[in-house]
Amino acid sequence: MEYAIDRSEREARAALLATGRVRADSVELVAPRANVPADLAFPTFRAARELGVAPPQLAQELAAAIRLDPASLVGGVAAAGPYLNFTLRPDRFTAAVLDEIDRLGARYGRGDLGSGKSVVVDYSSPNVAKRMHVGHIRSTIIGQALVNILSALGYRTIGDNHLGDWGKSFGVLLVALERDGQPPQSGEELLAALEQLYARYSGLVEQDPALDEEARRWSLRLEQGDPRARGLWQAAVDLTLRANQPSYDRLGVRFDHVYGESFYEPLLADVIRDALVQGVAHRDESGAVVVDLGDDLPTFLLQRSDGGTLYHTRDVAAIKFRVAEFSPAQVLYVVGTPQELYLRQLFALAHALGYADGVQLVHVAFGTVLDDHGQALSTRRGNMVYLQTLLDEAHRRARSLVDQASPELPDHERDEIAEAVGVGAVIYNDLYQDPKRTITLDWERILALNGNSAPYIQYMYARCRSILSEASEGATPHVSDDERRTAPDAPIAGLPPSDPTLLSHPAELALVKRLAKLPIAIRAAGATYAPVTVADWCYETARALAGFYRDCPVLAADTAQLRAARLQVVAATAQALRSGLALLGIKTPRRL
Ligand code: ARG
Repeated sequence: MEYAIDRSEREARAALLATGRVRADSVELVAPRANVPADLAFPTFRAARELGVAPPQLAQELAAAIRLDPASLVGGVAAAGPYLNFTLRPDRFTAAVLDEIDRLGARYGRGDLGSGKSVVVDYSSPNVAKRMHVGHIRSTIIGQALVNILSALGYRTIGDNHLGDWGKSFGVLLVALERDGQPPQSGEELLAALEQLYARYSGLVEQDPALDEEARRWSLRLEQGDPRARGLWQAAVDLTLRANQPSYDRLGVRFDHVYGESFYEPLLADVIRDALVQGVAHRDESGAVVVDLGDDLPTFLLQRSDGGTLYHTRDVAAIKFRVAEFSPAQVLYVVGTPQELYLRQLFALAHALGYADGVQLVHVAFGTVLDDHGQALSTRRGNMVYLQTLLDEAHRRARSLVDQASPELPDHERDEIAEAVGVGAVIYNDLYQDPKRTITLDWERILALNGNSAPYIQYMYARCRSILSEASEGATPHVSDDERRTAPDAPIAGLPPSDPTLLSHPAELALVKRLAKLPIAIRAAGATYAPVTVADWCYETARALAGFYRDCPVLAADTAQLRAARLQVVAATAQALRSGLALLGIKTPRRL
């Protein structure tokens, strides 16, 4: 798919190559530095070296030799030291960008980079009978944004919640459930109660050999498929999924599969045999199966001496299964940095076994979360944050903002807005910077109405909507104010025809050039597995919009024609911002 921004780059490149002075593979066009009054730059260093001339001289020669097609989006070219700078034709470029946003609507920015390719995204992946802690929260948010972004790029995405529903600890859990029954709470409180129950029984098991033996037997019964054990286990899995679902709904999270670790149980024997046959693993004197991939990686177990399997074993089987089932180009693991070595071992083993030939296995790592005192969150320290509690707190704080800002709105509407703002703020706090960096839970900053936060961007969006509805007042007399407000995501339509060539103010042009870059931001996010480039685009667009509002009156523009042209800019900005935020999982209320 070619957008105006792509076309301008293609035309600049073609004009360069048509001079016959430079080779195609030494032409790389870059974005000029912020203070340079140009739209695209060609750094001549490499081409000049190949030709044996000085870069500034080559830039001069090229500037003189280039002929620009009068129909091109590129309007000017000039040498500046070693750079050759291109400028766009504002009238034509603006018209092309506004036209494509108008035409494509919610599809604006999408691409076809991934068409014909599948990608599996392994994300969220909490454990049964436990609350989701910050690691799972980050995985859930980053993973869903990646699913959205990759889908927008034409990939077939397969989102899989790799639920921790198998392993040694289930013996203890089953004893506990059998003896004490299921705690009466629901939601995250139920999971907290199960954590406590489990902790209590782990303590008891340590002191009481008979109980320990009982836990071991339950574990064995579960593995052998004993119906009673299976039933208890299934109940624990189901109630965990049920407890987590409301939070997933609030975050807009949707999985294609929740296979969970247990799903791979029937495939484990084959995996272990493959590893032994291929000599990637050996059985040691205790009977355990040990994988040794050479000096670069520490050895690890595929099977314990008692025959039990491990997290690793199930994950390798998952790779074999996923590759066979989905033929993915990539499998992404959205997992915190503490599991980096673990995943390196896993990927190395899968490749050694030939399970992932031609498949990229990628660890999309993310850093830890700090509390507002800069302390890492940890269960031991007692400052751990859990998902539902976090979303509730965000909602509560957002609600008091909305109550102050819009006391005239009905209660249910303020509540809806508070949910969008609170949850949006939490999501954005996870996505607005390189995922590997730590994030801080600082409510002041997260919910700030100015600065790099979701509420600021949502607020700028809502301003667009209010200008648009004011402009259409009278134009659509049959729609009541209330209907217009509550219609979810009603399309932005009904604007008067406009002439974009009237747009010449620097703030107008700067904003339209921002809008032109959404497709590039989405592509970059998909290529680097980093939603931050889309988040950045949203923030920069909101800022460009603020500059436009400051300098260019819309409803009070000097002429009706200019007013119409500016309204189109506002409508296009609202459309593009909504799409950008939607990819991150952030909602855009029409009022704030
Ligand atoms: N359940 C694991 C945990 O809580 C995360 C699983 C990540 N995904 C994977 N395929 N290993 O740490």
